[in-house]
Amino acid sequence: MKVLGIETSCDECSVAVVEDGVSILSNIVATQIELHTPYQGVVPEIASRLHTEWISQVVQSALNEADMVVADIDAVAVTNRPGLLGSLLVGVNFAKGFAATLDVPFIGIDHIRAHLYASQIEHPLDYPYLGVLVSGGHTVICKVNGYDDIDVLGTTIDDAIGEAFDKVAKHHGFGYPGGVVIDRLAKNGDSKAFLFPGPALQKGNHPYDVSYSGLKTAVINQLDQFWDGTSAKSPENIAASFQRTAIVILMKRVRKALDDTGLTRLAVGGGVAANSLLRSEMKALTGIEVAFPSMELCTDNGAMIAGLAYRYLVDGITSDLSVTASARVTAFKKTYP
Ligand code: KG4
Ligand code: ZN
Repeated sequence: MKVLGIETSCDECSVAVVEDGVSILSNIVATQIELHTPYQGVVPEIASRLHTEWISQVVQSALNEADMVVADIDAVAVTNRPGLLGSLLVGVNFAKGFAATLDVPFIGIDHIRAHLYASQIEHPLDYPYLGVLVSGGHTVICKVNGYDDIDVLGTTIDDAIGEAFDKVAKHHGFGYPGGVVIDRLAKNGDSKAFLFPGPALQKGNHPYDVSYSGLKTAVINQLDQFWDGTSAKSPENIAASFQRTAIVILMKRVRKALDDTGLTRLAVGGGVAANSLLRSEMKALTGIEVAFPSMELCTDNGAMIAGLAYRYLVDGITSDLSVTASARVTAFKKTYP
């Protein structure tokens, strides 16, 4: 079964063809990064306008690369939540029109679930496993019982981890997008030059939650307060110290969740899963089988949408054409083990 997967929830206009949920025949990512760079962040109106202009061509490119014609598509999947509403609507309406015209199944896919699923395309784990989603919009630690059966253990109580990377980089003028630049700068920095604080979350209420606004504020407004007094106040040292603290905050909660649940498998997803320190810390967890998406499948992409859609489709689950886009996170229940 060849599924066309469309992803337009933010600033990547991406379309993929995935066969039987595992074979990526094409995965075109037309990034808008350059066009948002002057603003050092995604401008929603610009994002949706570019998706409108690009989508037909990106679909055509995905079909060309997969050596397919339109009639070869067996189903159309699209991210329909959460994200920027105007951007989502471009993909959703395109996908619905396409599916209706071809008379093939249509399915709306949750972006968060797709990030959590992305690693499974190339590195399938047995259920259950601990899922860790780290992106620009979300930070979620959860128990994944099945592709559509997820118990949220913890989330961020304020900023998402990727948002903290982006805002720190923007404030200090490191470049855009922030996560990639900080990762690169940090390689030549001293991560002990600044000893930034972790969050003081009350353990009883937030056993698996994280918080990044305190760290962000410290790195942006209180550098001197956490400086070691001797190291250079260089971009490399700021980046390395911030990155180390950001990853330590996450790893503490991930370790606790693994200990408490007894899970021995872990899947990471989302743009920050491309971070080199995060990848090495996760891989160093003893006795835990860790699945990462390849770099192209960490950030937003159509392949994770088509890959997850295949699971629903084989179980006979499709969406009605009345399904529309939603900016908000839906249908996650929050439970504790
Ligand atoms: O998953 P994604 O493409 O979009 C959302 O769903 O949010 O994630 C984008 C986020 C941005 O915050 C970006 O700065 C971050 O992923 N990111 C990274 C790295 N590459 C991308 N953060 C840290 N290190 C990286 N290497
Ligand atoms: Zn994403």
